[in-house]
Amino acid sequence: MERTKIADLRQHIGEKVKVQGFLQTLRDQKKMQFLILRDLSGLVQVAFWKANDPALAEKISATPTESVVSVTGTVVDNPIVKLGGLEIQLETYEVIGPAEAPIPLDPTAEALPSIDYRLDWRFLDMRRPPVTLLFKVQTTAEAAFREYWLKHDFIEIHSPKLMGSPSESGAELFEVQYFETKAYLAQSPQFYKQMAMAAGFERVFEIGPVFRADPSFTSRHMTEFTGIDMEISYIESHEDVMRFLENMLQYVYQRVKDAHDEEIKQHFGVDLRVPSVPFPRITMAQALEILKEVGYQIPPEKKGDIDPGGERALADYIKRTYDHDFFYLIDWPISVRPFYHMRHADQPHLTKSFDLIANGTEIVTGAQREHRYEILRQQAIEKGLSIQSIQFYLDFFRYGCPPHGGFGLGLSRLLMVMLNLPNIREAVFLFRGPNRLHP
Ligand code: 4AD
Repeated sequence: MERTKIADLRQHIGEKVKVQGFLQTLRDQKKMQFLILRDLSGLVQVAFWKANDPALAEKISATPTESVVSVTGTVVDNPIVKLGGLEIQLETYEVIGPAEAPIPLDPTAEALPSIDYRLDWRFLDMRRPPVTLLFKVQTTAEAAFREYWLKHDFIEIHSPKLMGSPSESGAELFEVQYFETKAYLAQSPQFYKQMAMAAGFERVFEIGPVFRADPSFTSRHMTEFTGIDMEISYIESHEDVMRFLENMLQYVYQRVKDAHDEEIKQHFGVDLRVPSVPFPRITMAQALEILKEVGYQIPPEKKGDIDPGGERALADYIKRTYDHDFFYLIDWPISVRPFYHMRHADQPHLTKSFDLIANGTEIVTGAQREHRYEILRQQAIEKGLSIQSIQFYLDFFRYGCPPHGGFGLGLSRLLMVMLNLPNIREAVFLFRGPNRLHP
């Protein structure tokens, strides 16, 4: 007999079905047993008259919760049953994946253990409906990004993650032994998406792993994360990239809202707002003025950069002033931007770059890139890079390369912001941080 998903049971009233899933709870009464079964699609109540088969009743009683069981029985309409108004009258019962008791993390418990403990037992933690939902939302969001790109003639690339030289700055670099030599884990697909521009691909995207040897313990940093990257040619400025990005994010939010609105309200208490476009834009110079006005002091060691507290203070200001959850912070000073960002012709100390702040958290960095070989080379020297080690990259700009720009977006940062999660560790399949490599 074929397995029926719990969500589809209503189409089978009066029929015999097979349902398989986790035994969530068992209520053992004098004459009857009520089991709640859970599969990915939902919950269902299963009822059994003990007198029908006392030996089977005993087997049911002895099954630890969270075991995987297979049940056959008849679906009956029963309006008094709280779960969807139907139940299965059990005929056969089999334990196909027994659980040991006690279970180290009960996914149905009201009180949650600490995040660290939950990460130790992540596969049990992920049985909780909000966590399952998070990955459904992630799937919808990624599909929406792809749909949007495909509608706009993008080509997908998969760039290597083992590199012979660093892909961003020299910082935050993981070194690995590579036979007789050293390799580095890619800090972003930056160089290779620009290579695709030099190859004439015009519009590319990549969804793939990014590695950062960042030793900090914050609520939004990981040492490995999924990057959503794109790059487009024939732009006039970073403004073209920002316009594309805001329209795409609006599309992604709408798709997520259409697919999961009610569940997101139920499990995360979030009423998802599809952002209006254009997003507000403020220059770094304006941002510093605003922070002064609201009395926020950036720590002095940040020199030209804005710390997370500053980003939140600006987000509050934008929310009050424009009632918007998103804003672009544009025109960053060259001191805090990589060598490949293009500079403003009339203000050479400023880059044609942006960050996107969503609900107070930076989720995207982007820019127009410098595509003129000599200028790019000079900027690399200024930043103290070894020209020899990046000559392969500089070569992309020697034989005709269109003006281009793009961005990198952290997938977990986006989910964290969308679902209002307190920590990025909740927004990823398995968190990787300075002291977490297992499981
Ligand atoms: O700001 P980042 O470092 O920019 C780049 O990688 C550029 N190559 C992007 C570009 O095309 N200009 O990283 C981009 C995004 C950040 O905005 C953030 O969302 C995410 O990647 N990110 C992280 N997410 C989790 N943990 C970390 N340690 C992250 N570092 C960056």
